[in-house]
Amino acid sequence: CGIVGYAGARPALGIVLDGLRRLEYRGYDSAGVAVVCENELLTEKRAGKLANLEKVLSERAATDPEGCAASPIGIGDGTTAIGHTRWATHGGPTDRNAHPHVAPDGRVAVIHNGIIENFAKLRAELEADGVQFSSDTDTECAAHLLSAALAELRAAGEANGPQLLAAAMRAVCQRLEGAFTLLAVDAEVPGAVVGARRNSPLVVGRGAGENYLASDVAAFIEHTRDAVELGQDQIVLITAETIEITDFAGQPAAGKDFHIDWDSSAAEKGGYDWFMLKEIEEQPQAVADTLLGRLTDSGEIMLDEVRLSDQDLRDVDKIFIVACGTAYHSGLVAKYAIEHWTRIPCEVELASEFRYRDPVLDRSTLIVVISQSGETMDTLMALRHAKEQKARVLAICNTNGSTIPRESDAVLYTHGGPEIAVASTKAFLTQLVACYLIGLHLAQVRGIKFADEVAAVVDQLHQMPGKLRELLSRIEPVRELARQIKSEPTVLFIGRHVGYPVALEGALKLKELAYMHAEGFAAGELKHGPIALIDKGTPVICIVPSPVGRGVLHDKVVSNIQEVRARGARTIVIAEEGDESVVRYADDLIYVPRTPTLLAPLVTTVPLQVLAAEIAAARGHDVDQPRNLAKSVTVE
Ligand code: G6P
Repeated sequence: CGIVGYAGARPALGIVLDGLRRLEYRGYDSAGVAVVCENELLTEKRAGKLANLEKVLSERAATDPEGCAASPIGIGDGTTAIGHTRWATHGGPTDRNAHPHVAPDGRVAVIHNGIIENFAKLRAELEADGVQFSSDTDTECAAHLLSAALAELRAAGEANGPQLLAAAMRAVCQRLEGAFTLLAVDAEVPGAVVGARRNSPLVVGRGAGENYLASDVAAFIEHTRDAVELGQDQIVLITAETIEITDFAGQPAAGKDFHIDWDSSAAEKGGYDWFMLKEIEEQPQAVADTLLGRLTDSGEIMLDEVRLSDQDLRDVDKIFIVACGTAYHSGLVAKYAIEHWTRIPCEVELASEFRYRDPVLDRSTLIVVISQSGETMDTLMALRHAKEQKARVLAICNTNGSTIPRESDAVLYTHGGPEIAVASTKAFLTQLVACYLIGLHLAQVRGIKFADEVAAVVDQLHQMPGKLRELLSRIEPVRELARQIKSEPTVLFIGRHVGYPVALEGALKLKELAYMHAEGFAAGELKHGPIALIDKGTPVICIVPSPVGRGVLHDKVVSNIQEVRARGARTIVIAEEGDESVVRYADDLIYVPRTPTLLAPLVTTVPLQVLAAEIAAARGHDVDQPRNLAKSVTVE
């Protein structure tokens, strides 16, 4: 979910709606706002995308020029507000389950990201006390509890100011289990927004005469680039002039100030129909930025934050790469490179499975967690499990100051810039680059590869932005192909070696964007079952490795192409420029620039991204916000 809060002097509604627009990638099942104007609480919420909410707000403004009959002033005039865009967990995506949730007194509104795990117990207690629930959400418990805590504090004679709201929020948080970011406003306390965070993201934006709270900085970047990172289990209270942070017990706490170094235009579409198309085009730059400054003059790789000594890295005898979704696929590619360069056994695991199978870990195990957002709950929980078992954790992440890098022993940031489209593109390519760098670094520290050998691979990596630019400049035939195969019932992807994870990634893109049946297979495995899926004309996208160096691998894939072709498949071949051997087996041929096999996923993935985006657009889908998904899933 995406969360925004504002306290200042300007009309808050527009600011919060703009913030929600920038956070909509975090979930778009429903949206809602609560505005405090003078001593009135005004709320509006709707199922579906933000546009639905905006429509009712504008209808409300048109039919009731005062904005809200219940208020002496309009909803647009309030200068304190919170807003929410939802990815449903408890309770379906309906109007009544949309946030904010308002206590029956109509004075307190709460929005929430995460899952309150003890909500059934809390709800039963509240119902036993006669509280009536008006939604199926876990969040509503927090609204009732907050309203009760405020009433109790007032009855005890506490003064009615912002501190009261913070104290009540602390009392509520002490009763909640699970993961949550909560924001709340109280009509009796105009001018203040309180926030709380446990295991879920929340940052503060520091403005001049106004302050912000948000799930991520994109929400307020057009207003301020000065931000404050909150720690775990902290409460933050903002007013127009103040930011006060405490822990859940009320002890003052310090946030960590940081400056956001990308500007708001990075989070704009800039003339493209979809963010995803823009982000695909940004890949050459993202790869170049991720490589920038990583290599010392003596050829050593530099990590961003290292709380691991070279001796720790020399002691590593096993590596697990742990991630979800597209990040998991980058880990699958990394396994080939890391094992090849370091000779350390490397396993790749889905984060959601990792801790539940009780993996064998100890101090000499290195866990590499990969996460674009740095907030994915499955990955965070896997990381914590690894740390409990004393393993060392190295994070690859695209989001400065997010939870996963903060809790890791070392971090290598990818410099992809903000990725807004839900389907990951430039983050994937930069994760690959980071994995290569880590593999090289480990090999070097352990004395297996020397500075000049590392520098040779890094030099090849430095050529990638140019190759990507060239590839993107002649991508048009892929768009044409998308139009041709857009109505097929099934598309299969095959590859060997690093081409296998590329096949998986290509299929994932098509599933998530085009809602088509798509599957990726190890090309050699096809004959053991999946080949039965092939019918006359079934498109099979074949990722062919370079014929240079690993000729055997290349020839085996070419044989696999012939096998599917013999069964009627339409073969769509992705091969290295100049590879003539595939011409006669390809119904469609897409050439990519020559690249050494281990690095080839940096180029072979790109046509698959374009293909999926174009098919989705041709089928009339929302390319940036596919149904049922969210960019950052902060629940397990
Ligand atoms: C979600 C997104 C995927 C993404 C995955 C991991 O499922 O829809 O696109 O790959 O999370 O996200 P992360 O931020 O951890 O890389």
